[in-house]
Amino acid sequence: MLTGKKILLGVTGSIAAYKAAHLVRLLVKQSAEVKVIMTPSALDFVTPLTFSTLSKNPALSSFQATDTGTWNSHVELGLWADAFVIAPASANTIAHMAQGLCDNLLLASYLSARCPVIIAPAMDLDMLAHPATQTNLQTLQERSNHLIHTNKGELASGLHGDGRMAEPEEIVAWLDQFFHSKKKFSGKKALVTAGPTYEAIDPVRFIGNNSSGKMGFAIANALAEQGAQVDLVTGPTHERLHHPSVTIHAVVSADDMRDVCVKLFPAMDIAVLSAAVADYKPATKADQKIKKTDGPLVLELTRTPDIAAELGKVKKQGQVLVGFALETENERANAEKKLEAKNFDFIVLNSLNDHGAGFGTPTNKIEIISRHNGSTKFPLKSKAEVANDILQTISSSHG
Ligand code: C5P
Repeated sequence: MLTGKKILLGVTGSIAAYKAAHLVRLLVKQSAEVKVIMTPSALDFVTPLTFSTLSKNPALSSFQATDTGTWNSHVELGLWADAFVIAPASANTIAHMAQGLCDNLLLASYLSARCPVIIAPAMDLDMLAHPATQTNLQTLQERSNHLIHTNKGELASGLHGDGRMAEPEEIVAWLDQFFHSKKKFSGKKALVTAGPTYEAIDPVRFIGNNSSGKMGFAIANALAEQGAQVDLVTGPTHERLHHPSVTIHAVVSADDMRDVCVKLFPAMDIAVLSAAVADYKPATKADQKIKKTDGPLVLELTRTPDIAAELGKVKKQGQVLVGFALETENERANAEKKLEAKNFDFIVLNSLNDHGAGFGTPTNKIEIISRHNGSTKFPLKSKAEVANDILQTISSSHG
């Protein structure tokens, strides 16, 4: 049952819009409160009257209420909802969402929504398979939107293939599971480190590395989705994450990252250290930009703090510490050495020799070595799936 759940339903211009009427009916039957927003092109397929009658709320399709001339506040709708379900989501609306365009009420509500967003696409098979659509769906998932996959079968065009919107019954079952399934990390506090660190040489230059932060952000997101309260300590990155259960601490250097981690760690149940922390920093930072000369420049480097080793030393009974090892040679032996030296419970090994694994890629191929429980190798997967594999491994041995 979805008793009392506030569902904002977005309906876009797809022939599957007629199924959205049945979806409203099912949601209301489950005692959910439903409000409907339609895109202008959805009006070509179904009428607001259908939705307002079924939901017992006005179905909105523009920024201005036609009868009163007042404003339909997209901000209020986004704050009101427990979940924003966009079903059917057309290729066009998906593309607009991925680009952050907001030229209608549904898109503006999407941009201002703080609740989970669930997308149920519906389109012809070639539109769905198009790399543009696939990239847009990937982007939206990386931004913590949920996807209810399409079904295969007969399409409105008469063609057969993938692209049918999930049936309304499937969408209701998905929501039921989403709201009621026991989350693996409910009540847990988790620290995640991500990205590179930058070690300043002078006011304009630094020593950095190729870490994108994607893996750490995927782990933070997966932990939050599984009910954890997450502190994400990240070096400079282009990654973004908006989740009510994630607090982001943006840092620059290894020293900054260490200070935040050392302060937060005592209160944590879990720490996953996926940051590519610099091992060395310039011994001194020049106050002014270093001028070039004809001769070579010699920089003296000193060690940065080993955050993982420091946390490993103060780790208490019950705390779980997970590290990463990105290796280019003697992968297994090096990873096992780090597992011991840093007092990790698990180490996630990824090799730069594996195609599709490591820095900047949307995918990763890992092996998880447990301190007490052997090791498991996983095939190449998206970083979101890899994050879930890591969490599954932690929860099955520390549940
Ligand atoms: O020693 P190495 O850098 O290969 O160890 C990798 C693991 O240790 C990763 O989990 C990384 O986040 C962590 N680490 C750290 N502080 C450092 C160096 C590495 O927390 N200074």
